[in-house]
Amino acid sequence: MAKGLAPRIGLLTEHEMFTGFPLAAFDELVFGGHDIREQTTRDAALEVGRDSGSIAPELVKRLASDFRAIDRRVVTGSAPNAGKVITQMATPKVQRDRRTLRSTITRLRKDIESFRERERCDRVVVVNLASTEARIRLAAAHKTLAALDDAIDADQRTKIRPSLLYAYAAATAGCPFIHFTPSNVTLCPAMRELFDEHGVPYMGADGKTGETLVKSALAPMFKYRNLRVLSWLGYNLLGDRDGFVLQEGDNKASKIDTKDSLLPNILGYAPQTHVAIDYVASLGDRKTAWDYIHFEGFLGHRMHMEFTWHGCDAILAAPLVLDIVRLVDLATARGETGALTWLGCFFKSPIGVATQDLHQQWHALEAWVRAQG
Ligand SMILES: NC(=O)c1ccc[n+]([C@@H]2O[C@H](COP(=O)([O-])OP(=O)(O)OC[C@H]3O[C@@H](n4cnc5c(N)ncnc54)[C@H](O)[C@@H]3O)[C@@H](O)[C@H]2O)c1
Repeated sequence: MAKGLAPRIGLLTEHEMFTGFPLAAFDELVFGGHDIREQTTRDAALEVGRDSGSIAPELVKRLASDFRAIDRRVVTGSAPNAGKVITQMATPKVQRDRRTLRSTITRLRKDIESFRERERCDRVVVVNLASTEARIRLAAAHKTLAALDDAIDADQRTKIRPSLLYAYAAATAGCPFIHFTPSNVTLCPAMRELFDEHGVPYMGADGKTGETLVKSALAPMFKYRNLRVLSWLGYNLLGDRDGFVLQEGDNKASKIDTKDSLLPNILGYAPQTHVAIDYVASLGDRKTAWDYIHFEGFLGHRMHMEFTWHGCDAILAAPLVLDIVRLVDLATARGETGALTWLGCFFKSPIGVATQDLHQQWHALEAWVRAQG
C-alpha cells in the first residue's frame, strides 16, 4: 500500500470518516517482532497466497527486499509454559531456553527498546499475534501486581503464559499493547495494574474478524423485532497453523470462551448455544463458519435462518491489525491511558466494554473520532 501496489479496501482507517486524521502513514510504519519458529515472512506470504489465492506471487516477488528487511527485525521469542502444541512448533534453541521468568521479561524489554532506538521510532505499539495459549485458571497471583511480581520472582511458571511476559515487557518499555488473541492470562487484573502504573494504554482481547463479527451484527436484529432466539449453533472449520493449535482441547477452550459469550449479553437471555471449531488441514488459510439460528415469532411460530461465512484468515486479520495499530498510536501520542474501550468493535471480548452489540460498539468508535476534532 505504501508503494501503491495494493488497494486500501478493507481498512477502516482509510474510510472517509478518517479523512484529515493525523494517523501514521503506511510508509512511516516499521515492522519487527519475535517468533519461536524460523519461517521467513516471504515464505509465510507465499504460503497464504498458495492456500487461498489471496496474495499474488508476483506481489511477493516485488516486495522481496521489504520482506528481508522485516525478517532482520524478527528476533527469537520465548515460550516458557507455552503448552505442548505450541512448544513443539518452537526451534530447539527456544525449547532449550532455561532463563528465569524475570530475565525473560528483561530480555524481551531490551529487544523492544533496541528496536525502537535502532529504527528511530517515535512510538512502538506491541501486538500479540502469537498462537492461542491454553487457558489458565485465574488465581490470587493474577489479581494484584504485587502478587504477580512475587510469582514471577519465584519463577512459578504454571501461573504464567508467554504472552503475559511479552505484555509485561511492553508495559515496562512504555509501549501500548494490543491483545489480538484469546489467551486469558495476558491482560489479567494484575497486568492491567502494571499498564496503569506505567501510564500506557492497552486493549483486547481476540480480534473480531469472522463468524463472531457477523454474530454481533446480526443478533441485535432479533432484539429489534422482539423475535425470540431459541438456539444458535455455530460450526467453524479452519485450516492453517491457528487451526492446528486450536485442535488442542485447552487452547480451543480459550477461543470458545471468547466466541460463545455474546448472545446472552446482546439478547438479555440465554438461548441454547454451541460453538464448534474443527481443524481441516486441506482448507489452508481459508475458514468456513455455518451458523443455524432457530427463533420464534408472532403466534409462537418457529422459523430459522442460516448463514455461511467463507473467509480467508490473513485477509481478514491483517487490515484490522493495521487499523488498530494506527488508532492506538494516535491515542498514545495524545496521552490516553487504560483500556481503550472505544476500540471495542474490533474485539470478541472487549475489555471494559459492557455491550457486545456491534452497532453500539461502532457508535463508541464514532464518538471517539468526533471528539478528536
Ligand atoms: N483471522 C485471524 O487470523 C484471527 C482472528 C482473531 C484472532 N486471531 C488470533 O491471532 C493469533 C495469530 O493467528 P494466526 O492465524 O496468525 O496464527 P499463526 O499460527 O499463523 O501465527 C502465530 C505465530 O505465533 C508464533 N508464536 C507462538 N508462540 C509464540 C511465542 N511465545 N513467542 C513468539 N511467537 C510465538 C508462531 O510461531 C506463529 O508464527 C491467534 O492466537 C489467533 O487465534 C486470529
